[in-house]
Amino acid sequence: MIDYEPTTGVIHLHNQLISYVLQIEPNGVLIHRYWGPNLRHWRLDALNQPERTGQTPVLADADIALGSICAEWPGGGQGDYRYPAFQMRQHNGSPLASLRFKALQIREGKPVLEGLPQFFVVSDDEAETLVLTLTDTTTAVEVTLYYTIYRAFASIIRRVEVRNLGAVPVRLDEIMSASIDLRPQAFDVIQLNGDWAREANVEREPVHTGTKVLRSNRGMSSAQQNPFFALVTPETTEQSGEVFGFALVYSGNFICRIEKDPNALVRAQIGIDSENFSWHLDPGAQFETPEAVLTYSEAGLNGMSQIFHQIIGQRLIPTRYQHMERPILVNNWEATTFNFDRERLLKIAKAGQAVGAELFVLDDGWFGHRDDDTSSLGDWVEYPGKLQGGLVGLSKTIHRWGMKFGLWFEPEMISQNSQLYRTHPDWRLCDPSYTPAVGRHQYLLDLTMPAVRDYLFERISAVIDLVGIDYIKWDMNRPMTDVFSCHLPADQQGEVAHRYVLGLYALISRLTARYPQVLFEGCASGGGRFDMGMLAYMPQIWTSDNTDAIARLRIQYGTSLIYPQSTMGAHVSAAPNEQVGRMTTIETRQNVATSGVLGYELDLTELTTADVDAVKARVKQYKQLRQLLQYGRMIRLRSPFETNEASWVIVDETQTQAVVFFTRVLAQANQLVMPLKLAGLDARADYRVEGRICGGDELMSVGLTLTPPRHQDFWSKMLVLERVSSD
Ligand code: DGJ
Repeated sequence: MIDYEPTTGVIHLHNQLISYVLQIEPNGVLIHRYWGPNLRHWRLDALNQPERTGQTPVLADADIALGSICAEWPGGGQGDYRYPAFQMRQHNGSPLASLRFKALQIREGKPVLEGLPQFFVVSDDEAETLVLTLTDTTTAVEVTLYYTIYRAFASIIRRVEVRNLGAVPVRLDEIMSASIDLRPQAFDVIQLNGDWAREANVEREPVHTGTKVLRSNRGMSSAQQNPFFALVTPETTEQSGEVFGFALVYSGNFICRIEKDPNALVRAQIGIDSENFSWHLDPGAQFETPEAVLTYSEAGLNGMSQIFHQIIGQRLIPTRYQHMERPILVNNWEATTFNFDRERLLKIAKAGQAVGAELFVLDDGWFGHRDDDTSSLGDWVEYPGKLQGGLVGLSKTIHRWGMKFGLWFEPEMISQNSQLYRTHPDWRLCDPSYTPAVGRHQYLLDLTMPAVRDYLFERISAVIDLVGIDYIKWDMNRPMTDVFSCHLPADQQGEVAHRYVLGLYALISRLTARYPQVLFEGCASGGGRFDMGMLAYMPQIWTSDNTDAIARLRIQYGTSLIYPQSTMGAHVSAAPNEQVGRMTTIETRQNVATSGVLGYELDLTELTTADVDAVKARVKQYKQLRQLLQYGRMIRLRSPFETNEASWVIVDETQTQAVVFFTRVLAQANQLVMPLKLAGLDARADYRVEGRICGGDELMSVGLTLTPPRHQDFWSKMLVLERVSSD
C-alpha cells in the first residue's frame, strides 16, 4: 500500500481505488505530486516540474522556488506567499521555519493518537501508515506527518505532530491537520452551512482566484459551518464526476481554507482555526493535531458520501455500536418541555409502548430546581419532589413495561443560579475582570480543569448507577465566549479553546468506557456539533431542533453528504409543527423520520386513532427493515435544494431489498412529472414494487413515475422494493 523509492524520493500511497504521491526533493523539501484515481506507479516527475513563476524567490541552498511548487507541508517566510500549514514563533521572535526531510517509516496498521478521536484499525494488515519526519534547519523543532491508507477505502487519514527538541520554548501559531496543493484545474467548492434549526445547507460555488475560508470560532464545530468541504470539477453531479472531500475529526474551532493562486494552483487546508490559538511548546513537549480525512471519488457526490459513510460506520464509530439496531425512542421534550410530572410522562411512555417504541427519554428539567432554562445546570441531582416516586421509580416502571429508559444531560454548562456556581464560581470559563456573555442564561464550565471533569464524571456516574439508564442525550446549548481560564498561565491562554475540547473528549471517553451498555446521542441545540469527533464516542446525533418534515428534507439531505443515516436522529413530531407551524400528514412525517434513526417527539396520546394506527404500522415495518434502513447504502436521487422534490434510496448490501423515499414539496398546477431513476439496484434482477414486478435495469434506466395528487402540498411516498429473481 505504501511504496518508497529512495533514489527518486517518491512515496506512493495506493490501494485499488486511489493513489497519493509525494516526493522528497534532494534538498529535503517535500513536494506534493498527485492525488486521484489509482496509478500503477509514478514516473512523471521529470515531465512535471512546475514552471518557475515571475517574482518567486528561490531557496538559496536548494534551488527551489517554494512559491511555484505543489507543496505538501508549506511553511511561511521563505518565498511561498500562500497560506502556510505551519507557523511558529521562535524564542527570539523569528517567525521562520525551514522544514526538511529527516526520516521516514512505513508502519503496518495505524498508530494510536492519544487524547483525540480517531479512525481505528481492526487488524494491522488492513492499513499502512507513512510516518514522515521533517526537521527545522535551525531550531530542532520536528514535525511528523502521518498518513494512513486503508486497503478498502478511497481515503487518506492525515495528522501532524510537532515536537520541540531544542533547548528553548517555541510557540505554535498555526498548524493544519492537512494541507495539499492540487494541480491547476477548475473546481467548485461545496460546503455545509446553516444556523440553529436550519443546519446543513448545501452551497456550491466556483473556486475563484483568492482565498475562501469556511470556519467556526464558536468553540464547537457549529451549525453555522460543518468541518467539511469538497472540491469538485464543475461538471460533477450527485452521480458522476470527480470529488475531493475533506473533513476534520474534531468538535471545536476549525478552518477550511481554499486558496487559488494566480497560477491556478489550488491549496486546500483543514485544521484548527488559528484565531486566538497558540500553543506553548517547552523543550521536550509535543503537540498533536486532530485527524483529517481526505476522500477521493470519481462517482460524484454520492460516491464521496458513500466512502465517508463506510469509513465512519466501520472505522470511527465504536465497534460495539456498529450494526447495533438503534432503538425507536419516544422523547418528551416537544410534548411537555419543562412541564411534566410522573403521570404525564408515564402516559406518554405508555402510549409509546403501545405503538411499539423501545426507549423512553426524559429530556431537560429533571434535576436541580429546573422548571425553565434559567437555572440548575451543573446540579446533576434529581429535582426533589418533581416526580412522585422519583427517577428510580420512573425508570423501574418504564423497564417493567419492557422499554429502555434514557435521560438528558447538558454536562458542559453551569447556570449562575445553581448550587455548583455558588460553590465554585471559578469553574466558569471567563476572564473575571469582564462580565461574561451569557447564552440561554448559561455559561460554559472550564473543562480544561481536571477537577471539573472529575466532578462531572462522578455526578453523571452516580445518576447512571442509581437510576439505571440505558441512553444519554448529551446536549450543549451555547457557543463559547470569554475564552479565558483562571487556571492557566498567561502564555497558555491561546490553548484554552483546544484544551476545552481535549477535556470534553477526556470526559466522554471515560464515561463511554465505563458505561459501554449506555447508548449516547450527541446534541448541540440539534446539529450544532454534528462532527466526526463526537461520532467517535457517540454513534448518533440529534440532527436538528427543527422537526418539521419539510425542513428536515434539506437538513437530512445535506447532513448525508458526510454522515451515514445511522448517525442521524430523526423524530416524528406534532402537526402543526412547533418550529414552523406547518401541517403535514403523519405519512410524510414518518417517511422523513424513517430515513434516519426513527423516534417520536410528541404526545402520542393526542394523536387520532387513524394516526396511531399509522404509527403502529410504521414502527412494525421499521423494525422489520431496520438493518437496511439504518445501515444500507444510501443514494441521493433528487435534491430539495435544487428541485421541488427530495428523494433518496437505501439499498442493502446484497441488493435484495431497497427502500425509496420521495417527497414533493409544493403542489403545482399542470405539474411536470420527471421520472425518478433509481440507483444502486442489481440491473439483472427483478424487483417487486407495490405488487408489480420490474427489472432493476428498468427501474434505474427508465425510472418510476410517481404522480402526486394535484391538490396536496408535502406529499410523500415510501416504496419498498424486494428482489424476486435474477437471470
Ligand atoms: C436543545 C435540544 O436540541 C432539544 O432537543 C432539547 O433537548 C432542549 N435543548 C432541552 O433544553
